[in-house]
Amino acid sequence: MKTEDKVLIFDTTLRDGEQAPGASMNEKEKLEIASALERMGVDIIEAGFPVISDGDFNAVKAVAKAVKNSTVCGLARAIKKDIDAAHLSLKNAKKARIHVFLATSKIHMQYKLRKTKEEIIQMAIDAVKYARSKMEDIEFSPEDASRSERDFLYKVVEEAIKAGARTVNIPDTVGYSMPEQYGDLIAQIKNNVPNINKTVISVHCHNDLGLAVANSLSAIKNGARQVECTINGVGERAGNASMEEIVMALKTRPDFFGCSTGIVTKELCRASRLVSKFTGFVVAPNKAIVGHNAFRHESGIHQDGVLKEPTTYEIIRPEDVGFMETGLVLGKHSGRHAFKQRLALLGITLSDEELDKAFVRFKSVADKKKQVFDEDLQAIVEDETKVFQKAWSLESLESKSGTHINPDVRVALKYKGKLKVKNSTGDGPIDACYKAIDDITKIKGELLDYSIQSVTQGKDALGEVTVKVRMKGKVIIAHGTSTDILEASAKAYLNAVNKVLSGLKE
Ligand code: KIV
Ligand code: ZN
Repeated sequence: MKTEDKVLIFDTTLRDGEQAPGASMNEKEKLEIASALERMGVDIIEAGFPVISDGDFNAVKAVAKAVKNSTVCGLARAIKKDIDAAHLSLKNAKKARIHVFLATSKIHMQYKLRKTKEEIIQMAIDAVKYARSKMEDIEFSPEDASRSERDFLYKVVEEAIKAGARTVNIPDTVGYSMPEQYGDLIAQIKNNVPNINKTVISVHCHNDLGLAVANSLSAIKNGARQVECTINGVGERAGNASMEEIVMALKTRPDFFGCSTGIVTKELCRASRLVSKFTGFVVAPNKAIVGHNAFRHESGIHQDGVLKEPTTYEIIRPEDVGFMETGLVLGKHSGRHAFKQRLALLGITLSDEELDKAFVRFKSVADKKKQVFDEDLQAIVEDETKVFQKAWSLESLESKSGTHINPDVRVALKYKGKLKVKNSTGDGPIDACYKAIDDITKIKGELLDYSIQSVTQGKDALGEVTVKVRMKGKVIIAHGTSTDILEASAKAYLNAVNKVLSGLKE
């Protein structure tokens, strides 16, 4: 039997993913995502673009220090100062890679770089050689490769490999390719670049025409053995290829691809939830693999089929991607020990202080809600172990609203042990509540986006509110959960205030 070829998974959620407008994450959030990626068995984690800001530099540095099993990668333009920054930020990594990119399409060379072909070739050689003088593992990307002149592209790739690139990545930077065309590009690179066998061919596809996954898979079919992707497909503009879809396509169709990855697929849903939470990007219910409806059957015929034999309508077992059919786990009589054990089973370890806080919150949720599910526990823990100082806390909330009543909300907040109370009216109870919080905290917020999702099903489900607000000139994403949606809304907004007071970037 032919053994399956391994396809390396290069995750760029923390770099290209973070380039999605409004998706930026703070260092603690990036570290949490990096640890989820490492637990999943991601081969390479692109942690950021170190030269672009101190925040990015420090985040790459922190990820490089924390991650032990995956290679940590930093992006750099083909210039010394970028390569130096990437090198410095990766100093503590157990396994490090510098990813150098340089545009090779006519349109980019002429208008963006204002360089001739000869100059571009020389820049690529110099940059890869310089990066190689810093470390062994160098990746080179001819940006906008899919719109580059073929012969010129072959030449740049050949020279980059000669200069020492171990991986050559072929980006479809603007998502322009069609799957057949892109697969052919990879096949032709294999045929026309004489030293191509000395390197791994990687692919990096954008989703402008909704083809990022299809293009990546077509490239794998034609010999690419590294794929660059992001959780939930987040990324610049319409996003990147979605990791969960690529990984599950390879796992579900080994007969077609003859390839596998090292990804622990049971972690996919959890990672998706984490990224959605930190970026504030809600996952569409019909999103393949990780969407809320991805394994739900509505039609009676389908339900009947699945009950008789799941494979009639299911090509993936939900448990293989960690899709949790909500199972009852804890109730109001459960003790601290059972709570801690269940968290451990979910892979969550807390300090004693965090555990105390989370347990008190669990008890109050269990009082209101008879059944506490795994998703509830995750939401409680995420809510109670915020990455910032809780300067302001919500003491109480009362509201009067109805069809013919002007909404009137009374909010009581605590700050350094002192209680402050305010009544406010507004267009609706949430507007009134946010005005009262603005008045008390003296921080004026502009609500840019608001969404609510139920954590589990049922009328008593926890509601998770995500707000995007502008405060003190910063755009902040924050969350709050409660069985009461007004309370969840107040907590989310207050968490944004606390984030801004802690000086945290989004
Ligand atoms: O889309 C792109 O071309 C990139 C490169 C930096 C690889 O993100
Ligand atoms: Zn990209």
